[in-house]
Amino acid sequence: MSAVPVQAAGSTWTVRPSQAGDESQLAALFAAVFGQPMTEAQWRWKLCSQPSPVPNSWVAEAGGRITGHYGGMPMRYRLDGCEVLVMHGCNAMTAADSRRQGILSAVHGRANEVWKQAGIPFQTGLHYGGWGSRREFLGWVPLFKLVWVNQPLRPFRRAARRATLPGRPLQPLDALWREFWDRRLAMTRGDPRGVPVTIREVAEAGREFDILWAAAGRSYANVAVRDRAWVERRYFAAPDHGYRVLLAERGGAPAGYLVYRVGHIGTVSDTGWIADLFAAPEATAVRRALLRRALAE
Ligand SMILES: CC(C)(COP(=O)(O)OP(=O)(O)OC[C@H]1O[C@@H](n2cnc3c(N)ncnc32)[C@H](O)[C@@H]1OP(=O)(O)O)[C@@H](O)C(=O)NCCC(=O)NCCS
Repeated sequence: MSAVPVQAAGSTWTVRPSQAGDESQLAALFAAVFGQPMTEAQWRWKLCSQPSPVPNSWVAEAGGRITGHYGGMPMRYRLDGCEVLVMHGCNAMTAADSRRQGILSAVHGRANEVWKQAGIPFQTGLHYGGWGSRREFLGWVPLFKLVWVNQPLRPFRRAARRATLPGRPLQPLDALWREFWDRRLAMTRGDPRGVPVTIREVAEAGREFDILWAAAGRSYANVAVRDRAWVERRYFAAPDHGYRVLLAERGGAPAGYLVYRVGHIGTVSDTGWIADLFAAPEATAVRRALLRRALAE
């Protein structure tokens, strides 16, 4: 059967689906490989909390020790009107002392076989280096480049801090900077109806998100499903992330949402991080209103 452990020729380790009880080793391996803490609860949420028709998390194990992992988060996409389940590849990692022995090749290769047999049409993934020849070897095809977009919120205070000068006297300049950007975002070109947009923070994913998805989702030919179940699982149920969700309404109907969090992210403190922004393609005013509110907070 597809999920049976397999041993790579000439190797000392076997490849098998991860199972209950592996979480502590996997969370520890993640922390060691990526240099960022990961709790067992976070691991379970990321890789074990969604229904999957096939094992979605694969490990290499040698004598009870997990030395490598490759996983996929099952995600629903709507492609040309049909909903399909795809895997979003994640947590590709091999223990530092076990690299260059074919572990990623074998674990990811096994996942590829099993997912293909199960009819999963493709995987998505964000590769940020380190894969070397394995990217093409394992079937990945680059589609486009993604870029991080960032905007300093208090550039003058930041510059002062870097130069070890007092930042307080520069506060008015930062206020002017913010006002400039706020005004730019307030320009509502592209909103033919001119109906005011109101924004409120929500504490749970209510049925507004299904209404929004039904109305705005159909404007996209190919899109990851952004319904109530997605918002609930991806943001509200995420352990320790502290996501905040803003809902935009226009004329009393849900028109968009934005998800963000604030805090110490990676190595940077005092950072606001926009994780998701969804509205119909033509709803420029809605997106701008959501961004203004997030930046103001
Ligand atoms: C990226 C990573 C997962 C690769 O894992 P790995 O188990 O070492 O990968 P593999 O052993 O299958 O392949 C790695 C290299 O070893 C080579 N190799 C594979 N089997 C081999 C063997 N038996 N003997 C010698 N070399 C071998 C491969 O050809 C490849 O080399 P190349 O890219 O120079 O051509 C690992 O380096 C890692 O954990 N990096 C840090 C985390 C990271 O960057 N993850 C990806 C985030 S997007």
